[in-house]
Amino acid sequence: MTSTEPEKKRSPCATVIVVAVVLLVVLLTCMPYLLSMALAQAPAARAEASPIFGVTIPDGYKQWELIAPAEEAAPLNELRAVVGNQTAIDAYNDGKLPFPDGTILVKRAWKRAKSPEFASATIPGAATTVQVMVKDSRKYGATGGWGFGRFVNGRPVDEGQHRTCFACHEAGAKDHDYVFTRLAP
Ligand code: HEC
Repeated sequence: MTSTEPEKKRSPCATVIVVAVVLLVVLLTCMPYLLSMALAQAPAARAEASPIFGVTIPDGYKQWELIAPAEEAAPLNELRAVVGNQTAIDAYNDGKLPFPDGTILVKRAWKRAKSPEFASATIPGAATTVQVMVKDSRKYGATGGWGFGRFVNGRPVDEGQHRTCFACHEAGAKDHDYVFTRLAP
């Protein structure tokens, strides 16, 4: 009797300690897993952004207003449409240069296809690339204030291709804030 009584008194206390230790172990065991989940999500989100610039395909760009269509000769044989967000459209309408921060331009492109219903008509075939320019004069100060992104099937192309963007836009359109496309009349 005398030997079991102290044991009975100790056991609830021991149970509390055991439960606390178990909880602590569970928490500590879960911590790296939770952390790795959080870290795994960040690179996954970043993977959709372009190298160098971290530009992503903007939401809702398919509903944006048309700035101008364009056509590219062989070998690409593409139809293109440059569209812009409201900041871009306002700047175009006001003839404002340079484009203000927040401007986003998207160039959509499709293979040129012959209309099955009307031989002389050319229509968009398969989508090829989505190209994006984002104006942020501080973040992209080294490239005229523009961040670039080129996407095929929704995925950014490699860093090498992204190194070519600014050079060509600078060579051809420096006096128009590095933007080739003019508002279609
Ligand atoms: C060899 C020249 C050249 C290179 C390299 C180039 N572009 Fe362009 N880009 C053009 C031309 C020319 C236009 C005008 C529209 C057209 O002809 O398709 C244009 C248009 C654009 C537009 C629409 C706004 C504008 O300036 O008219 C975007 C957005 C764009 N390019 C993004 C990119 C991105 C992103 C890259 C790099 C991955 C890139 N460009 C590389 C020549 C180039």
